[in-house]
Amino acid sequence: MTEPDGAAALLAAVGVRKRFGALVVLDGVDFSVGAGEAVGIVGPNGAGKTTLLSVIAGSQRPDAGSIRFAGADVTSAGAAARCRHGIARAHQVPKPFGGMTVFENVLVGAAAGGGVRRRRDAYARVASVLDVCELTPLANRPAESLGLLHRKRLELARALATEPQLLLLDEIGAGLTDEEAAALVATIRELRQRGITIVWIEHIVHVLVQVVERLVAMDAGRVIAEGDPDAVMKDAAVIDAYLGTAEVTA
Ligand SMILES: Nc1ncnc2c1ncn2[C@@H]1O[C@H](COP(=O)(O)OP(=O)(O)OP(=O)(O)O)[C@@H](O)[C@H]1O
Ligand SMILES: [Mg+2]
Repeated sequence: MTEPDGAAALLAAVGVRKRFGALVVLDGVDFSVGAGEAVGIVGPNGAGKTTLLSVIAGSQRPDAGSIRFAGADVTSAGAAARCRHGIARAHQVPKPFGGMTVFENVLVGAAAGGGVRRRRDAYARVASVLDVCELTPLANRPAESLGLLHRKRLELARALATEPQLLLLDEIGAGLTDEEAAALVATIRELRQRGITIVWIEHIVHVLVQVVERLVAMDAGRVIAEGDPDAVMKDAAVIDAYLGTAEVTA
């Protein structure tokens, strides 16, 4: 297993396997992240990136292997328990609660995380998260009325409202203009400065490397390269995995 340099592992996935019917989607993945680290995950469509996040977040159970988080084995814990322990996720396909406003959606996030005892605390947290995610002007809008960019921000806001130690981001930058991507980079850098550990799946590598110091490349359910982002993107196996695909933007 690769241990991040100089940092105690906050998260360690060891020997993770997952299959859907006959399809092996995770084929023995070892993946660890140090406290305070920001790690990017890249790989072609179908590589198993989202499934790895699901196994880490607890929405999918691995067929084999284990997940340790903050010193505890959480392999058999469900997603809600892991969320209370400090793992939050922004989904690749945003899943807002359609019948609720933006504010209410983020309030649900605040209630799902650990530690909010008083309603006033939760409201203050929602207000601060809406501000960070630049959603304050849309707070009273029904979530289903939002376009894709704002749905992605709402995913981020709902995850942040749980006050995570570990934030899992799945393609929240997809489809953004350069200006929007720059704003997103600034936001995520700020979250890092607050001490949040970040795992970020993104095809837009030039955006990703503005935040992460380590890249993990996956293909066909395996980690095929990891380490310094430049070295990973020049790795022959990584180039080979992307060959014939137009999805990576170096
Ligand atoms: N719940 C599921 N049931 C059956 N097959 C699934 C399920 N979830 C994912 N898969 C399949 O597992 C494989 C890996 O999917 P996954 O979503 O993890 O890939 P990914 O690396 O995130 O791809 P992308 O870049 O397109 O988001 C794909 O072939 C996908 O069709
Ligand atoms: Mg995916």
